[in-house]
Amino acid sequence: MSIVTVSTTPFSGQKPGTSGLRKKVKVFSQPGYLENFVQCIFDSLSGHQGKTLVLGGDGRYFNDVAIQTILRMSAAAGFGRVLVGCNGILSTPAASAVIRKQQAFGGIILSASHNPGGPDDDFGIKYNMGNGGPANETFTDAVYKRTQEITAYRTSESPDIDLGRIGDTRIGDMLISVIDPVADYAELLESLFDFERIAGLLARPEFRMRFDAMHAVNGPYGRAILEGRLGAPAGTVVNGIPLPDFGGGHPDPNPVYAAELVSALADPDSGLSFGAASDGDGDRNMIVGRNFIVSPSDSIAIIAANYKLVPAYAKGLAGVARSMPTSCALDRVAAELGISCYETPTGWKYFGNLLDAGKATLCGEESAGTGSNHVREKDGLWAVLFWLNILAVRDEPVEQIVREHWRHFGRNVYSRHDYEGIETAKADRLVNELRQKLPSLAGMESNGLRVEAADDFCYTDPVDGSRSEKQGIRVLLENGSRMVFRLSGTGTEGATLRVYLERYVADPSLHAIPTQDALKPLIEFAETVARISEITGRTSPDVIS
Ligand code: G1P
Ligand code: ZN
Repeated sequence: MSIVTVSTTPFSGQKPGTSGLRKKVKVFSQPGYLENFVQCIFDSLSGHQGKTLVLGGDGRYFNDVAIQTILRMSAAAGFGRVLVGCNGILSTPAASAVIRKQQAFGGIILSASHNPGGPDDDFGIKYNMGNGGPANETFTDAVYKRTQEITAYRTSESPDIDLGRIGDTRIGDMLISVIDPVADYAELLESLFDFERIAGLLARPEFRMRFDAMHAVNGPYGRAILEGRLGAPAGTVVNGIPLPDFGGGHPDPNPVYAAELVSALADPDSGLSFGAASDGDGDRNMIVGRNFIVSPSDSIAIIAANYKLVPAYAKGLAGVARSMPTSCALDRVAAELGISCYETPTGWKYFGNLLDAGKATLCGEESAGTGSNHVREKDGLWAVLFWLNILAVRDEPVEQIVREHWRHFGRNVYSRHDYEGIETAKADRLVNELRQKLPSLAGMESNGLRVEAADDFCYTDPVDGSRSEKQGIRVLLENGSRMVFRLSGTGTEGATLRVYLERYVADPSLHAIPTQDALKPLIEFAETVARISEITGRTSPDVIS
């Protein structure tokens, strides 16, 4: 093998967002674009020579090409070994599990999560550290800085590696081990949950489950764990073969994109009692009961409230954490349990320090991300198994479990309104104007609601003291209601404005009011405060979740 140094010039815009660098495939496939970014990751590491790197992705279009490029560059960068998932497959939580179990130096995950895939759609890349979690901001800032000054990248001259066969091969001195992408991960999940009890539930004729893998990475994981280890009937996993374009769908497990699953659960003839789905790279989840969708903010709260039912967590929770825009349902559970509830900026990377320091055991985000200290990523199948474990022990329907939770803790009625593909200049103007208004918002009244306080969320990490500023505008209202405004950090086209609305309703007789109706005064107030339609020209959100 010979190492080749190729001169290059910087590409603009290689700034990692909420979860790594995401761009259109057309952008990523320009000569040198991927290479530059990977070189900048390697240049920002130290001490990796001779060490192990984990590599894999969600199987989307360009995954295969990118993996061969990264393998050649890893050899040139001096890694000793690369563990790569068979056929280039590794779900995000499985990559995290492998990094941890194999004590790797770090890992590269190729995914644009729930964004569509294909030649005209999205690709992404992110670096995870030795703890199995997404690199922190200090690291991603260093990578970005490097992308602006790069002059050359290093690669090696060697043919493509056969990724379809488990086993070892080499590029020069670097060992490449093509591994079973499921084994380490499945073993880890089996050590956390009561598999015997869950298997018993899945064997009951009156309990029928469907897991929709959305033609994405979790197909093989779902089959091996649910149908394999837990003995669920064949066919429990649907859309189970990962496809480069996710079958033309949008692999995001929400009521809009997983509508088929939701309607199957609403159809009494389907006989289904439990439904679940996960996203492109397997870290998000959706939980559906018979004719009932569990909101992700409620899901993490219910998981926390039922921790005693799951073997690995029964001895107690150190603490819990949620991202700032996630509803405060989790805080109420934490208060009752007498444990801390941390509020972090959006993005899983902020949970890493809390998990490493043993301050939090469970974490959740409103965007269908739920997980624990077993890995350092959110974990779709983990959430599904947690719910199955709860159902196996409680023997009640999903809806009843949620309603009982609301009766006990009150209901944090919650919704997110997304305005997608807004012109960046207009979105920036909206946020800047809101920021300027912040000092004058307290005391403002509309529709019987009154602003108590307003700020731009700033987070100081309780472990390393690092500060992250401008993480979303919070408008806190009296009686536990809130509005939060922030721009997405994962989109690839224009800007997406996210408006998060929350209202606390203690009285159980009001829990049945449809969410959007219950939030109507807040929705109107948000319009008054942020002037969304005036600035963006949009009169209604594109996606309501
Ligand atoms: C979105 C979600 C966020 C999640 C991220 C990665 O980021 O809102 O909770 O961590 O995707 O899955 P955003 O586009 O809002 O920056
Ligand atoms: Zn994802």
